[in-house]
Amino acid sequence: MRVFALILIVWLCQACATELSVGKVSSPNNQLHALVQLTKSGELSYSVNNKTKPLILPSHLGFTLQKQAPLEQFEMLSANVKSYKKQWQVPWGERKNIRNEYNELFVSLKDLRSERKMNLRLRAYDDGVAFRFEFPQQKALNEFVIMDEKTDFNLAENATSWWIEADYDSYEKLYKQTQVAEIKQVQTPFTVRNQDGTLLSIHEAALTDYASMTLKHKTGSQLTAELVPWQDGSKVKAKVPFRTPWRTVQIANDAKSLVASDLLLNLNEPSKLTDTSWIKPMKYIGIWWGIHLGVHTWKEGERHGATTERAMQYIDFAKQHNVQGVLFEGWNKGWEQWGTREAYLVPSDDFDLEKVANYAKQQGVAIIGHNETGGNIAAYESHVEDIFSIYSKLGINTVKTGYVAEQGFSNGEHHQGQFGVNHYRKIVELAAKYKIMLNAHEPIKDTGIRRTWPNMMTREGARGGEYNAWSEGNSADYTMTLPFTRLLAGPMDYTPGIFDVDFSRFDGQRYDWQGQEQKAGYRVHTTLARQLANMVVLYSPLQMAADMIENYQGHPAFKFIEALDVDYDDTKIIDAEVAEHITVARRANQRWFIGSATNKDAREVSFKLDFLTANTQYQATIYQDAKDTDWQDNPEAYQVVTQMVDHETTLHLTLAAAGGAAIIIEPLND
Ligand code: NOJ
Ligand code: CA
Repeated sequence: MRVFALILIVWLCQACATELSVGKVSSPNNQLHALVQLTKSGELSYSVNNKTKPLILPSHLGFTLQKQAPLEQFEMLSANVKSYKKQWQVPWGERKNIRNEYNELFVSLKDLRSERKMNLRLRAYDDGVAFRFEFPQQKALNEFVIMDEKTDFNLAENATSWWIEADYDSYEKLYKQTQVAEIKQVQTPFTVRNQDGTLLSIHEAALTDYASMTLKHKTGSQLTAELVPWQDGSKVKAKVPFRTPWRTVQIANDAKSLVASDLLLNLNEPSKLTDTSWIKPMKYIGIWWGIHLGVHTWKEGERHGATTERAMQYIDFAKQHNVQGVLFEGWNKGWEQWGTREAYLVPSDDFDLEKVANYAKQQGVAIIGHNETGGNIAAYESHVEDIFSIYSKLGINTVKTGYVAEQGFSNGEHHQGQFGVNHYRKIVELAAKYKIMLNAHEPIKDTGIRRTWPNMMTREGARGGEYNAWSEGNSADYTMTLPFTRLLAGPMDYTPGIFDVDFSRFDGQRYDWQGQEQKAGYRVHTTLARQLANMVVLYSPLQMAADMIENYQGHPAFKFIEALDVDYDDTKIIDAEVAEHITVARRANQRWFIGSATNKDAREVSFKLDFLTANTQYQATIYQDAKDTDWQDNPEAYQVVTQMVDHETTLHLTLAAAGGAAIIIEPLND
């Protein structure tokens, strides 16, 4: 007790000679404590403790503005704390019910030298803390331009961290693991692990009409927000009343709880859509992987992928195998003339759009349309309503968008700046108007917007499976890092489920985008069983079984994908370690789907099925690596084991290096 009191005094007095506490707030379970302080000269800071242990040391807050004095010295006008507790339901997702419970400190501040006002709203949840700045309606501030957001994150430890480098246009990078002190500038979610195993992940929620935040290294383990700029160097153009996104720090004692966090969804606004009956998660296949492999083409010609005939075959396969949607890429004229109206609406000569759309409708299979903008935002925005209204008449209720333009949009703005953020949102809102679900590639990062716009289903926003087709690809370690980094932000259209993981049989028949022969030796870097596990582990409400149907036809392992549900009532993280392994169980009605996946290391995994209903017999069908599976030399070997289980059973799995297991557990009387 004395030690506790002493630590508390040391913490409160860290700067008590110069700092005045303006308010404190604790998480509902009283584990996390956040403190907001002002120095005598008006500098604002916050800090966060886990019980008595500092996680974030006092960190500076403020803004520099264009053509006016910075907002960096404040006096407090008022401060109050309130509590909130409610449960709410998502229309689709990893779990139906979400608990939203927090304590909130609201501080009203005034600039020391002017009448300009700013509020700080800081919330403490059991799974992290979050804060945002608000600029209320006022006479002293109207339109303003943020040149810099001076939010710091002074991490208490030079922790182990997992990150991708920040550029302002692409998230398609491999993760690195270093100490915090070694980073330069990174994207969020940025995840760190302290010596005692505590995990923190810095990100943002409700990124609306603002520039995306990256994190820049200052010194030691101190980081600072670096917003993605406009071409003119400014960061955010604003007008009161205005508020920033939430700056979020998910905090957990272990990796399991980090992955289970609902912090970001809780920080977003409730749904703007009253009728969500048209929004339905689904599995899909597509004329897609063959094009990336380079055996088919987007463009019309001898090897054209999206022909009427192939489209009909895909629709038939989908119908026969409980797959609800089919994506067609490159069915349009002028594929290379990205952005033109033609490229979105005029089918190529060998693709009869109406015939395909009618056939899909007849068969009860959804078509996923594809809009590759090539980053030409002005053109896309000018055609998009036309496109969506024509698509919706054809029964195309889902659109995959694309923004292939590494160096920014064609108007020179960045993907991740305020301009881009507003564009991506505009498309979500227009899609909702036409009852269209969205899957965005080369998107803005996810910040939990699906709560407000439940038609924003999934997105890429990381290096997806496509890289395996035409580059050194994605290692098992990389995909095992995703659940603890990128996926903390929300669903990802990774495009898993490749059965022909070693596609060397196509060597010599594969061509790149420019028609040059593709290098031999590229492949998928996991076992087949791990590809099945990824279908569960890498959550996406539009989950693609990405391989070509000829590789699925008659394949016994496809039974798992056929049975898989992608909309869940509940999700339990059974077991997890960052970048090493994860086992996830997801329930849809009475059936559970479990995905267990490992990195480059083979591993034994055991867990009790105590989440099953007591006194009920279930059948477990386990798709797993076989004894002789070897991701390099024998990756496609797998075995299927069936076993009776109940809530007292402990399952033992042997995962090969870069391997996995995928399990269906269903009640016997079902
Ligand atoms: C990149 C996307 O990630 C991919 O899925 C798509 O096929 C291509 N762009 C072409 O639009
Ligand atoms: Ca991509």
